[in-house]
Amino acid sequence: MKILKALTQEDTQKISISLAPLLRSGDIIALWGTLGSGKTAFTRYLIQHLLHRQESVPSPTFTLLQVYDTDLFPVYHFDLYRLEKPNDAYELGIEEAFIDAVSIIEWPEKMGSLLPAAHRLNVRIKVENTTRIFIFESTDSSWKERINSWQITL
Ligand SMILES: Nc1ncnc2c1ncn2[C@@H]1O[C@H](COP(=O)(O)OP(=O)(O)O)[C@@H](O)[C@H]1O
Ligand SMILES: [Mg+2]
Repeated sequence: MKILKALTQEDTQKISISLAPLLRSGDIIALWGTLGSGKTAFTRYLIQHLLHRQESVPSPTFTLLQVYDTDLFPVYHFDLYRLEKPNDAYELGIEEAFIDAVSIIEWPEKMGSLLPAAHRLNVRIKVENTTRIFIFESTDSSWKERINSWQITL
């Protein structure tokens, strides 16, 4: 487990950018946190970094999914807040995404038991005024190793 405290949005950006080199296709990044905790902000910084540009990264609040083609792997950015039932996630292409893309999922609780444990990194975001506490943990052995070897200074 790794706990990082972002005092500013710039810190959130640093954390999200430093996660980028650890990503591999097939990974699932589950972002757990209340409305306004920074799930989209964290994802936006990460995707802009992977795209090497400040491209607009809209919140998939209504579309439920935005797909980006990066040099290394496609990135599927899900916002499942409006998903009515876990099975509806199949229509969004989760099966393909989980095989060879990097899936970043806001509101992963909406997937229920369809959310795989394999290749999954959990990111829990806690809010304290403008501070965001990021807790990174996983039950996946590869992610455990990656979290342990992750070097970051804020
Ligand atoms: N340290 C911080 N890191 C990220 N966002 C922050 C931070 N401090 C304040 N914010 C604000 O919190 C909000 C996060 O919104 P958003 O990323 O859309 O949340 P979510 O997707 O979890 O609903 C933004 O308005 C952002 O400006
Ligand atoms: Mg969001």
